[in-house]
Amino acid sequence: MNKIKTEIGEIVSVSGNVITVQLSDTVKSNMPIIDGIVYRIGQIGSFLKVPLGYANLYGIVTQIGAAAIPEKFKELVEKDYTKIDNRQWLNMVLVGEQIGRKFDRGVSQSPTTGDKVHLVTIKDLDIIYGGLDEKNSITVGNISISESLNAKVDLNKMLSRHCAILGSTGSGKSNAVGVVLGAIANKGFKSSRILVIDPHGEYSSVFENNSNVYKVKSDDLDKSKELLIPFWALPFEELLSIFSGKLSDQNKDYLRSKIIEAKLIAVQKNDIKIDKVLVTADTPIPFSLKKLWFDLDDFERQTYNERAKPETITNKDQIGDPEKLISNMYKPASAGGGAPFLNNTAKGILSFLDSVREKLKDSRYKFLFNPKEYTPGLEGKVAHDLGSLLFDWLGGTKPITILDLSGVPPEIMASISGTLLKIIYDALFWGQYLKNGGKEQPLLVVLEEAHNYLKSGENSISSRAVQTIAKEGRKYGVGLLLVTQRPSELEETVLSQCGTIIALRMNNSKDRSHIRSAIQDELQTMVDLLPSLRTGEAIISGEGVKIPARVQFYKLSNAPKGSDPIVSEKWMEESNVTAEDYEKLLRVWRNQDFKEG
Ligand SMILES: Nc1ncnc2c1ncn2[C@@H]1O[C@H](COP(=O)(O)OP(=O)(O)OP(=O)(O)O)[C@@H](O)[C@H]1O
Ligand SMILES: [Mg+2]
Repeated sequence: MNKIKTEIGEIVSVSGNVITVQLSDTVKSNMPIIDGIVYRIGQIGSFLKVPLGYANLYGIVTQIGAAAIPEKFKELVEKDYTKIDNRQWLNMVLVGEQIGRKFDRGVSQSPTTGDKVHLVTIKDLDIIYGGLDEKNSITVGNISISESLNAKVDLNKMLSRHCAILGSTGSGKSNAVGVVLGAIANKGFKSSRILVIDPHGEYSSVFENNSNVYKVKSDDLDKSKELLIPFWALPFEELLSIFSGKLSDQNKDYLRSKIIEAKLIAVQKNDIKIDKVLVTADTPIPFSLKKLWFDLDDFERQTYNERAKPETITNKDQIGDPEKLISNMYKPASAGGGAPFLNNTAKGILSFLDSVREKLKDSRYKFLFNPKEYTPGLEGKVAHDLGSLLFDWLGGTKPITILDLSGVPPEIMASISGTLLKIIYDALFWGQYLKNGGKEQPLLVVLEEAHNYLKSGENSISSRAVQTIAKEGRKYGVGLLLVTQRPSELEETVLSQCGTIIALRMNNSKDRSHIRSAIQDELQTMVDLLPSLRTGEAIISGEGVKIPARVQFYKLSNAPKGSDPIVSEKWMEESNVTAEDYEKLLRVWRNQDFKEG
């Protein structure tokens, strides 16, 4: 009985994977009611079914109306529209096949002209979208066309093959991340490892019970712990890039050799087990930057009683102190050409050294240059080594670790997040045969607002680190969940390595064309739907789903902090703000500290 009710037309042409269907004249309405449920014929992105003996083929509607009119009819339309006024066409692409109750992606046979095409009912959809193994899948929302159908995603495929969440600002990306991570956290895994790089500090409120939060400038307001990133873990070039002032290649080499010297001393002092020939300026080994600054600064400032004779060094006017960042001062060189003489082997890097001192004193950089137990003494000795930091970030007892970078100065955001990613990836790569390496305990790295530190064409450490993870991470158990509102700014190789794409509303056509190139050819017309999606609605395609699906994500009850204030409600509230509150605002701003200043 159902068969007759659901039939809507027949196939008039088959061209590769694209099927043109002519709707029958007998379809009375575009919105038939079957078993009490209203269906809509020809919604872009909806499914149709072609029964072929014991199997059913399924297709997704990609075009309807004029765009789908077959060539031979087009002439007719132009000549005399009335001849075909009762006919309607649509195009669909085949996406999968059902045999018994099992639905699989791809088709093993092709339909032919005259085959009948049917509406897909709720029962059919259940077969299409169901069937994912409960253990390996998470539910993230509803299938848009039917609220009663859960939208499920295959966790293993989504995580190991990387995933991208894309959408314009306000389309619901952060909410989607929250839903995905929340679903994973609630799955009862005993040792799941998820690391969220959170540039705006949005997530601590979302996963209150499931997460450890590390935050630059932690405060008592939210029980977060302090995020410390010791400067000595940064590769040489990244460390240099923090200071202003350009160095010549010679001076860079000079600095590099001095850093290696200092690291070698620290190897001894800290009893670090490493072959000394392997120590480079990039090796994450502690050294005292204050001492390095002091020694270099001293050398630049020395004056001599006899020309070019260091043994005739003049008496000090001021005795410096490396801990306090005070320079040694010598008798000023004479301007007239007599004694005292300047050090003629000085490198001319005083202004660079000044910028080093400025940064060492800057309270915004404390997490980097004065990282508590990780701060080296003048001989490079540290109370804690990188291992305990890695344990904090990767070995936590809670499934989610959030690294809140909202307090990191924007000018070094790319360097810092890139360094973090590099440290973490390197650790898991080299530890691949250990029980805490990525193979034994896979890691998911979530990059929120990735456009902030991943610009295509920029050879930055962050983009190199992300490209490495995108290309190689799968093999070493590191998966990416990349979130951005500007896919067009991402390196194309990174996007094309993302096996699952979750595309939310996307207004910008340049960004859409990047998504288009990342998803399966025949479904590219679905990308045209992106501007019209509702908030929180997405097209999920790729490895994580059996079939591309239009999904309405659940809405988180505790929204990320970035969510929109409701203006009209806020403006309705009585305000009791006084001049003093603005004084407080100024204090907080000046101190760059969200706590009351
Ligand atoms: N599935 C959903 N259902 C209903 N409302 C939603 C849904 N997802 C998000 N919203 C609402 O939309 C607003 C924006 O969401 P969200 O912060 O997740 O967007 P975003 O894409 O991360 O934006 P941005 O690029 O600015 O970070 C929020 O107020 C949120 O509550
Ligand atoms: Mg967001």
